[in-house]
Amino acid sequence: MALAAIVEKGDEILFPGPTYPPYISYTKFFDGTPVAYETVEEEGWQPNVDDLRKKISKKTRALVIINPNNPTGAVYGKKIVKEMLDLAAEYNLLVLSDEIMTK
Ligand SMILES: Cc1ncc(COP(=O)(O)O)c(C=O)c1O
Repeated sequence: MALAAIVEKGDEILFPGPTYPPYISYTKFFDGTPVAYETVEEEGWQPNVDDLRKKISKKTRALVIINPNNPTGAVYGKKIVKEMLDLAAEYNLLVLSDEIMTK
């Protein structure tokens, strides 16, 4: 529903790779472009914030943070989440924070 409300044709939506697949299909359904930012297996599947920065473009509309992520189960460190939110603020991105797997 959030994606239905915000995605316009050509918008890029950033989400973690790997991700919960409906983020990809719903972004495409609303004519947006899904863009994955890396999460690093050797680092417990934490997001690579440098890669995330590189993937932000003029078309980027929103940043999806899934914490804990599915399917990796990774819980992101506080410092990484802060860096991601700072990036979103710097580039004026909406943040979709999916914390559905939190107890
Ligand atoms: C990360 C994540 N977000 C959202 C959902 C969707 O949850 P629901 O089926 O309760 O809408 C799931 C379900 O597995 C999920 O893993």
